[in-house]
Amino acid sequence: MREPFRNEPFTDFTRSDNIADFQAALMSVESQLGRTYRLKIGPDWLDTSAKAKSLNPSHIAQTVGIVAQADTELAHQAMLAAAAAYEKWKRVPPAARARVLYKAAAILRRRRHEFSAWLVYEAGKNWAEADADTAEAIDFMEFYGREMEKLSECQPLVPLSGEHNELIYLPLGVGVIIPPWNFPLAIMAGMTMASVVAGNTVVLKPASAAPVVAAKFMELLEEAGLPDGVVNYLPGAGSEIGDFLVEHPMTRFIGFTGSKEVGLRIHEKAAARQQDGKWLRRVIAEMGGKNTIIVDEDAELDAAAEAITSSAFGYSGQKCSACSKAVIHAAVYEDIVERVVERVKSLKMGKAMEQSSAMGPVIDERAYRNILSYIEKGRTEGVLIHGGGKGDSSGYFIEPTIFKDVAPSACIAQEEIFGPVLAFIRADNFDAALDIANNTEYGLTGAVISRNRNRLEQARTEFHVGNLYFNRKCTGALVGAHPFGGFHMSGTDSKAGGRDYLLLFLQPKVISERF
Ligand code: NAD
Ligand code: ALA
Repeated sequence: MREPFRNEPFTDFTRSDNIADFQAALMSVESQLGRTYRLKIGPDWLDTSAKAKSLNPSHIAQTVGIVAQADTELAHQAMLAAAAAYEKWKRVPPAARARVLYKAAAILRRRRHEFSAWLVYEAGKNWAEADADTAEAIDFMEFYGREMEKLSECQPLVPLSGEHNELIYLPLGVGVIIPPWNFPLAIMAGMTMASVVAGNTVVLKPASAAPVVAAKFMELLEEAGLPDGVVNYLPGAGSEIGDFLVEHPMTRFIGFTGSKEVGLRIHEKAAARQQDGKWLRRVIAEMGGKNTIIVDEDAELDAAAEAITSSAFGYSGQKCSACSKAVIHAAVYEDIVERVVERVKSLKMGKAMEQSSAMGPVIDERAYRNILSYIEKGRTEGVLIHGGGKGDSSGYFIEPTIFKDVAPSACIAQEEIFGPVLAFIRADNFDAALDIANNTEYGLTGAVISRNRNRLEQARTEFHVGNLYFNRKCTGALVGAHPFGGFHMSGTDSKAGGRDYLLLFLQPKVISERF
């Protein structure tokens, strides 16, 4: 029997052997920068005349890769290839499909630092964040493999005399997978391999800012023995091929993680019935967040300040789970603000390739401009008490930025900024703090730091988010331990890394026989 699932441990970067190994991986990846990547349809790696450059956000003069760009004709070819592969792949027994995931996980474990190094260069993740992204990708494959094996056993049904009944799970068909750039390995691999282990085939359109990591993953899937056509790699602009893929008559489901705006568009387009359309397309959408940490009057103050700092500024605030609103009980407000500012002063901003970098760049020019415009807005909505400026201009660096005395209705307290910007809001009491936390169209993560049992119990029922944490940070969900996903405009209430996730990629069939 297969051993029970366990989360992949993180690399200990205080150890000199790990530091040396990681540096070697960075050097090896650096020597491969600037190569050209083709798209993959069925068995063929194809070049195109249209190309896009993927840049290193820490050092924008450095090209990570030059990537072929699909148009709608190639998108159609990819859909046909996925549909052809589906006819065979759906017949492969679930345990055999799961073994492809275990093999892919084993290869990724062996090449762990190499993949993390690509994440450092392409996504601007610091060493620890990159390592955690790779570990999560391994976890998703190990976890979903086991879950599919369990689902392939018949579900127990109520016995009826004279009749045999069974329920089996069938795959859906051809899916389109649209991941974000911020977890370009874990979320991309998670959505893709959940679909695949369930017996579906997919067209994977990687995020435009991080397509090289996905291309490396495609190479890994070949090595793992995944048959051609099961995953088709189709880099291209969302604005050019996104709608086409979503609305394609062969698209049975869409696995999307990204912004509210794009998620809503996909949801709407997917719902429209095509002429002769045979099914209601399923959309699994994981979208943005505007996440709050509440600090109660009796909280352990240093722990609270630490939770806020790491949740707000880890990966430069570019996590859907990031804390961007800190709602503090008036009795400890000034104290917490001061402690967070002190901590943030010691965060070293620097190129992600450097081991000492605690906070790297933001992803690209568009994000850079957008975040800076929110900071300008913040100057009119609160009191700037830290940061607010740009960093080293050779990359997209923005200082960790803190505003205090922000009104709950302010733009920077309502909209997802997706950068290193934190708003402090004062609450007169715990009820008010909960109201401020819930005053958002999103519902992804949240945390409460308190020693008061009654208030924790109150938050348990009244703080309406998909992932609620007590006395800890609101980022860093672990596969299997913290199934992840949110409410309202944060998505379709799904839970990546949870036991019910694979059901979203399957359809149950009941067969009844009288003998
Ligand atoms: P995005 O919405 O800009 O892009 C996501 C993907 O959609 C990309 O691959 C993009 O190319 C594609 N796309 C763009 N236009 C499209 C269209 N018309 N049709 C189909 N696809 C299209 O998001 P992003 O900037 O890549 O990622 C950041 C966002 O993702 C944030 O809002 C963040 O909160 C969210 N996110 C959510 C989760 C979660 O689990 N809830 C996890 C990570 C990121
Ligand atoms: N799943 C990631 C986290 O929890 C986004 O931080």
